[in-house]
Amino acid sequence: MTLAILSALPEEQYGLSHALAERQEVHRAGRRFVQGRLQGLNVVLALSGIGKVAAATTTTTLIEHFGVEKLVFTGVAGGLGPNVQVGDVVVAQHFVQHDMDVRPLFPRWQVPGYPQPTFHCHTTLTERLHQAALRCTQAAAQWNEPLLQGHAPAVHKGLIASGDQFIVSASLSQAIHSDFQAAGLHALAVEMEGAAIAQVCADYGVDFAAVRTISDRADDAAHVDFPAFVSAVASRYALHIVAQFLSSERV
Ligand code: ADE
Repeated sequence: MTLAILSALPEEQYGLSHALAERQEVHRAGRRFVQGRLQGLNVVLALSGIGKVAAATTTTTLIEHFGVEKLVFTGVAGGLGPNVQVGDVVVAQHFVQHDMDVRPLFPRWQVPGYPQPTFHCHTTLTERLHQAALRCTQAAAQWNEPLLQGHAPAVHKGLIASGDQFIVSASLSQAIHSDFQAAGLHALAVEMEGAAIAQVCADYGVDFAAVRTISDRADDAAHVDFPAFVSAVASRYALHIVAQFLSSERV
């Protein structure tokens, strides 16, 4: 069985790509896929691209062309929940599209044709990713990384909201958070791909789990915090979490 490991940005994939043995590059749908072995397991690495459509194309190609049956996403996100800080890790239990709105024909956020607004992640894969994230944050507490600002990183588990928008406004991120809150949904983080990947995986019955490290607070400083975090820390987190995750793989 082949496991796909997806990231949004090259910086997030850098460490994983370097650790890959028996590398073989394949080009498909205008994208580069790298097959190989990580810790003795068959994997294919891919970049999702930015945004929901790009991520859906990559995911479909992974399933249709490479026959992947499990998919794990590692990347960064903006913190939305009040206690979700830069350097923390959010493990997705489910995803929602914060920019999907077909009211009054369908309830807010619900993709027509699906039973509810949220797409669920695979329980066992998610639990393994959670354990891997916990071990990574324990290690990260010793890294002395200035961007973590002396903050001991926490691991959160719950809802992540995706949309085709980089959120760089405290008032907008608060509005997104409070609109969900009013509907009984507690969104922890915001990003641009996860819900689309979850939807494609649901369509194909492919197991999916995702982890996002918080690079910014989706506030007025997000455009400064995001690139600094991506270049300094994101690859390190991705490599650590995936290494821990793969060590619990039993295929
Ligand atoms: N990914 C990381 N930070 C983000 C933000 N502020 N908005 C959307 N996606 C993100």
